[in-house]
Amino acid sequence: MRFFLLLIIVGFSFSKPILESFSQIKRFPFITYKEAWTGTPAQSREVAVPAVVITYGEKEKKELVEEAVNIAYFLGQWTEDVGITPRMVRKGKLPSLILPLSKALKTDKNLILIGTRNKIVKNLNIAFRGPTLKVISWQGRKILLVGGRNPTEIKGAARFLAYRIVGFKAGAYKTFFSFVKLRAMIEKEDFSSALNLIKDPSGLSACGKNMSLAAPMMLRFPPEVKKIVKERNIILYKKIPQVLRTKDKEKAIKLWRKAMITCYRCHQGLGIKRLRRFIPNENIHSKHQKIAEDFGLLKKEGCGICHKGITEIRGY
Ligand code: HEC
Ligand code: HEC
Repeated sequence: MRFFLLLIIVGFSFSKPILESFSQIKRFPFITYKEAWTGTPAQSREVAVPAVVITYGEKEKKELVEEAVNIAYFLGQWTEDVGITPRMVRKGKLPSLILPLSKALKTDKNLILIGTRNKIVKNLNIAFRGPTLKVISWQGRKILLVGGRNPTEIKGAARFLAYRIVGFKAGAYKTFFSFVKLRAMIEKEDFSSALNLIKDPSGLSACGKNMSLAAPMMLRFPPEVKKIVKERNIILYKKIPQVLRTKDKEKAIKLWRKAMITCYRCHQGLGIKRLRRFIPNENIHSKHQKIAEDFGLLKKEGCGICHKGITEIRGY
């Protein structure tokens, strides 16, 4: 048994890369919001678009170039690709997400640079001690380096970035924004839309729930955290749907509030050890404020309709 546990621990330390500049990685500007036209003139909305190009040195090993696809996939889950029109495709003008370094440097985007066979890592003389993610500022842009001492280590770091960082954020933000919309629909007593939003698999189910399903992470959670995940899931997927069916606005608001407190318990460490150990990137996170405003939620109490008492904290 002890040996087995040791294996698990070694397994973890092997798969988790060195996160140099931890909060810069967590706060990396992977996406941005852009206004998009929605058909009728003068009608627009904000959509998430990639703010990065995934890149590699011209002489990089092919197996590492292939790792770019995983990262691009999860970035695609996070963004809505409205930037491409059939006309652009016909003209061969595809704004590409994966480019060799020389081309990537011609864009003004931040870079995710995979591997070490490239002039940036060489010129800066950067040495890696193991699978590593590291953010540097270079000639006016941010670069997230995906490095290691050999291709296996670099691949490990690239996969961690794809699944555990970009993939996780894509899900967490979808959940977050749906959660805010849910509050707005309850306010408007639009109970059937609220129910649909909870049922929508691409809507309200990622952060806490995904984390409870992610086996390796779950193993590390102490029992009090598992309890919070369970409580959140029961409120969101069982209790709120029940009161929505009875069209009880006051009860629904109370339950929603209880669910928000579970977010804060993990993020801010209320009564438990703080689990989210960084302040989110304001540019990405503040979209929830815009959603609240668009739905008219800020009219009476401003941000205080949700940020009050133990959920008062709202500073980036
Ligand atoms: C079991 C604890 C837990 C619960 C409950 C929880 N979260 Fe999280 N959440 C986390 C952790 C831990 C992270 C940071 C993960 C990491 O290191 O990237 C996170 C990250 C996030 C992020 C991404 C932030 C960023 O900048 O990357 C969002 C958005 C988010 N959570 C939304 C929510 C919402 C909304 C709720 C409540 C409905 C919630 N979470 C409930 C633990 C939790
Ligand atoms: C509909 C409810 C709602 C409204 C209205 C709202 N928020 Fe939030 N806000 C949330 C939820 C839920 C979270 C928890 C997710 C998290 O911590 O990432 C949150 C988190 C935050 C955070 C992250 C706190 C931290 O340090 O982790 C900031 C900052 C914030 N809100 C600012 C604001 C501001 C400013 C306004 C008003 C303009 C506002 N919010 C309006 C629901 C709301």
